Amino acid sequence: MNTDSPPAGARPDPTDGRAGAVAADRRDPLADFRERFDVPDDYYMDGNSLGPISAEAEASLDRIVEEWRDLGIRGWTDAEQDWFTYAEELGDDLAPLLGADAEEVVLANSTTVNIHTLIGTFLDEADGTKVVVNDLDFPTDHYAIRAQFRQRGIDPDEGLVVVESEDGRTLAERDVADALESHDDVVVVFMPSVFYRSGQLLDVERLTEIAHDHGALAGFDLAHSVGVVPHDLADIGVDFAVWCSYKYLNAGPGALAGLYVNRDHFGTTPALAGWWGHDKSTQFDMNLEFTPADSAGAWQIGTPHLLSLAPLEGSLSIIRDAGIDTIREKSVALTDYLIALVDERLAEFGCSVGTPRDADRRGGHVAVEHPEGQKLAEALKDRGVVVDFRPPNVVRLCPAPLYTGFADVWDVVEIARSVLAEGALAEYETSSGGVT
Ligand SMILES: Cc1ncc(COP(=O)(O)O)c(C=O)c1O
Repeated sequence: MNTDSPPAGARPDPTDGRAGAVAADRRDPLADFRERFDVPDDYYMDGNSLGPISAEAEASLDRIVEEWRDLGIRGWTDAEQDWFTYAEELGDDLAPLLGADAEEVVLANSTTVNIHTLIGTFLDEADGTKVVVNDLDFPTDHYAIRAQFRQRGIDPDEGLVVVESEDGRTLAERDVADALESHDDVVVVFMPSVFYRSGQLLDVERLTEIAHDHGALAGFDLAHSVGVVPHDLADIGVDFAVWCSYKYLNAGPGALAGLYVNRDHFGTTPALAGWWGHDKSTQFDMNLEFTPADSAGAWQIGTPHLLSLAPLEGSLSIIRDAGIDTIREKSVALTDYLIALVDERLAEFGCSVGTPRDADRRGGHVAVEHPEGQKLAEALKDRGVVVDFRPPNVVRLCPAPLYTGFADVWDVVEIARSVLAEGALAEYETSSGGVT
């Protein structure tokens, strides 16, 4: 038994058993935050796909519904927080999580649409015809970029430079630099912050430097980091970024996405322009000529989906109360603990860790690899543990820090251990298709 008193948020020693995890939960400065959420299952380890509802998110949504009832069209101007500037206001609130100025962040569209408009914008601006990506990307990124090439008469197979991972899990930043050395005409290096499958955290600063050193812009898909990993986009000089609000930001299914555009690019005409991106002071003059807002707001397109935006106001207030540095600290401790437990308790049953062990290289989830990963994911779900499966063999486990404790992590690993020890996977079949 470890008798030293570890600091709040430090990970328990796996050899201390469940008691060690319970003791760590008692020291956890974020332990009480769980009460603010309605977590639907005993063990909800899928917050990297969809975060749960909170009282605060429900309250801000309810307020907009009531304002709609009471004010009708006047809500655009007379609501408690007028609806006309709501997406910009929430962008201001979100900006500290990105390390950006208020005007550089806005809530708009979906992540995929934001990739379309931002990649399209910068392809239009530059002389080049290439975008550097990698073969571990979330597929929508490639679909959108390829479509933008096609619309400009560029062969997507020529335009997309795909850096290949050496191990099928992770990417080395130097391989991105090598790709830039051997390709002229690169307009944008577009990379994720955290890989959706392995959970590797890339070095955003280094990648930005690499892109800039080669005369390219640096853009990022931050879907798996905003709300759990702090960012420093403006200082680093990132050119643009996109992310979802339904994962670690807990703003609800299909919540409005976010985008960041470095102020150096304000004034550029968006590829998918629309009246909501117009300079707000003259938007209702109804001029047929488009004048972009002098902010990231220019990349909005149409009227924001307020009912898909409102929960973010409440859910963000929880993140603000917790503090992103405390969230990250606990997240690292939880994933560290989970990795240690997989090594200690599950490795003998064929599980291994596909996520980097260096905390600086890890986002908020852990990829547990098992040859029958799909069956393991199903067996866990049947036992009250919500996880997801990503082919070919990854069970993703996300101990989201605002509503997951160390004892939860211990319990989940014990449930997995008993599934594997009892040979319960034999009752399951591998299937394809469906939402996992
Ligand atoms: C890295 C990444 N990008 C984009 C998306 C999805 O984008 P959208 O919200 O447009 O469906 C996801 C969804 O999980 C994702 O993991």
